[in-house]
Amino acid sequence: MINKQRLHERIESLAEIGKTADGGVTRIAFTDEYKKGLDLITAWMQQAGMRVRMDQAGNLIGILEAPSSELPAVAIGSHIDSVGNGGKYDGTVGVIAGIEVAQHIYEENISIKRPLEVIAFCEEEGSRFQSGGVYGSRAMAGKITSDDLAVKDKEGVTRYEVMKQFGLDPERIQEAERDSSEISLYLEMHIEQGPILAKKDIPVGIITGITGLSLTEIVFEGESNHVGATPMDMRNDALLGACEAALAVEKIVNKYGGTAVGTAATMDVLPSQVNIIPGIVSTVVDVRDVDLIRRENILKDLEKKVKEICENRGLNYQFITKLKANPAMSADHVLERMRIESKQLGIKTFEMPSGGGHDAQLIAEFTDMGMIFVRSENGSHNPKEYASPEDITSGTELLANVALHYLKC
Ligand code: CO
Repeated sequence: MINKQRLHERIESLAEIGKTADGGVTRIAFTDEYKKGLDLITAWMQQAGMRVRMDQAGNLIGILEAPSSELPAVAIGSHIDSVGNGGKYDGTVGVIAGIEVAQHIYEENISIKRPLEVIAFCEEEGSRFQSGGVYGSRAMAGKITSDDLAVKDKEGVTRYEVMKQFGLDPERIQEAERDSSEISLYLEMHIEQGPILAKKDIPVGIITGITGLSLTEIVFEGESNHVGATPMDMRNDALLGACEAALAVEKIVNKYGGTAVGTAATMDVLPSQVNIIPGIVSTVVDVRDVDLIRRENILKDLEKKVKEICENRGLNYQFITKLKANPAMSADHVLERMRIESKQLGIKTFEMPSGGGHDAQLIAEFTDMGMIFVRSENGSHNPKEYASPEDITSGTELLANVALHYLKC
């Protein structure tokens, strides 16, 4: 049986480490609080009958062995690092649920044909180095470059040095790489971070895929000139071009509809002074969809629209791709299994994409993936985020049954 009380107690005791004045949590990767958190996770993994190791990326891995099995493992993971003054559920519920699944198997002597791994991925949030996060899962997918090791935190200390201080050897980071011959399936449970499940009054979400993020910087170049002396019909106002483009993002994305989202997230105005018509404006636009072709078509439409706006307003523009991540789709057989198991458990679910990135997105690059969302109140990354013990238990029961199905075959 999945132990609701134990799940609740563990979430509460982990939240004591790095607890902030308003009930939030600050547990940034590679800090003393993070180390203390990992020590607690290690003890719980051992109570659940697991052997525990840390790889050279700082990922903590508990292994529940399947006697005399040569088969690849089923892995369950998430993260226990947080953003500054974040909440106590983001990431942690996934790791604690994974340990609960292992302990359930261990205590009830359920025989499994392949090992179960529970992974606490290192530095998912990326708060310390402001470098995009999902560091530990990127290392597992073999995607860490020397640039990743050279990034510095606010104190000017590189990740390379920080890892050394933490007892890791960054020179051996490739040893953290895994493939599908070692992990044949990866499952992750996470709080939703958005309002959809709460609004629909449904406790658990089945994730169809994780959206692929794209960041594009659009620079508009017009002419800075005197606001009083330049007639309205003789201006090349870069800010007006950028504003039209921001509205176009909303319009184009709404035209595509479905799972696409788009945001003109920043706007930098030069010279940004009264008395002067804005001459240069740059805006960073975030466009995401689970469907890569649709996302690329949205970007193409946007560039066409920007060209048209700039022709009308006598502006020049640059359309610069800053970052593109591929969407990750959940494996069809896992989706089907989640439907079957949730029905059997009598848990109401809703199928939806994940708009936020997760470790699962990286692990999906080398093996099959499935994700479960638990309804959350007040979003996430703040002290008020909340998931109820009942919903967390329902999510964990689904996670356990899906994992067990694969562990037994
Ligand atoms: Co998270």
